[in-house]
Amino acid sequence: MNLIFLGAPGAGKGTHAEILSREIHIPQISTGNMIREALKSGTEMGLKAKAYIEAGNLVPDEVVIGIIRERLNRDDCKNGFILDGFPRTIPQAEALDKMIRIDRVIDIEVPESLILRRLSGRRVCGSCGASYNIHTRKPKVEGVCDTCGGTLVQRKDDQPETVKARLKVYHEQTEPLTGYYKKQGKLRTVHGSDDTAATHRDILNAVEA
Ligand code: AP5
Repeated sequence: MNLIFLGAPGAGKGTHAEILSREIHIPQISTGNMIREALKSGTEMGLKAKAYIEAGNLVPDEVVIGIIRERLNRDDCKNGFILDGFPRTIPQAEALDKMIRIDRVIDIEVPESLILRRLSGRRVCGSCGASYNIHTRKPKVEGVCDTCGGTLVQRKDDQPETVKARLKVYHEQTEPLTGYYKKQGKLRTVHGSDDTAATHRDILNAVEA
């Protein structure tokens, strides 16, 4: 099953892609995580992406399309994958359609007030990248990663001003993708305001529908 998770920043794409990936044994492919890894390792692509990501803007299409083309060619994608954060523009979606067949697109809808609360509460491990939330997914010891003991930090792009910029970019450039995939008959919308277990059940139903 070749899946796309769509949704605004903080809608829960990463959280739910990770849960589903473990359950149905297909990889979660997050362009955001791949770009952050490249940034951390100081690769040429990471350095190019730095200014875009920190301002809440999209990294240029040709860069992310190249990353995805390379990633989808790997063996672990043969039985399917979950794209988390790609595509984000119409040109990215058109490039993807030329690369591979997509079966379902799950659009996770969450009201903006909840998005702001979720993103202001998100903390990530500076070492392994595990994600927590001071409201809903607290670590056992405050500020410390349960998995590796690393220090929990706030993502730079989760600062309120950058979140505003990301939401604007989402409405202008990414939201039109719902119309694109609706026309193809692949779009399923899930309300993502419930707790993680309930939202996961709705996503499973939408994937199987
Ligand atoms: P990326 O990392 O993809 O960020 P995003 O799309 O803005 O998404 P987020 O990671 O903020 O949110 P999410 O929907 O995954 O929510 P999460 O599950 O973490 O991209 C970052 C940047 O990289 C972009 O701004 C851009 O610069 C660049 N980039 C990436 N892809 C690109 C592309 N294709 N083209 C161009 N540029 C690209 O959840 C958020 C919080 O809510 C968490 O704390 C979580 O615990 C909590 N939560 C989630 N669901 C629930 C629930 N059901 N109940 C309770 N809490 C929940």
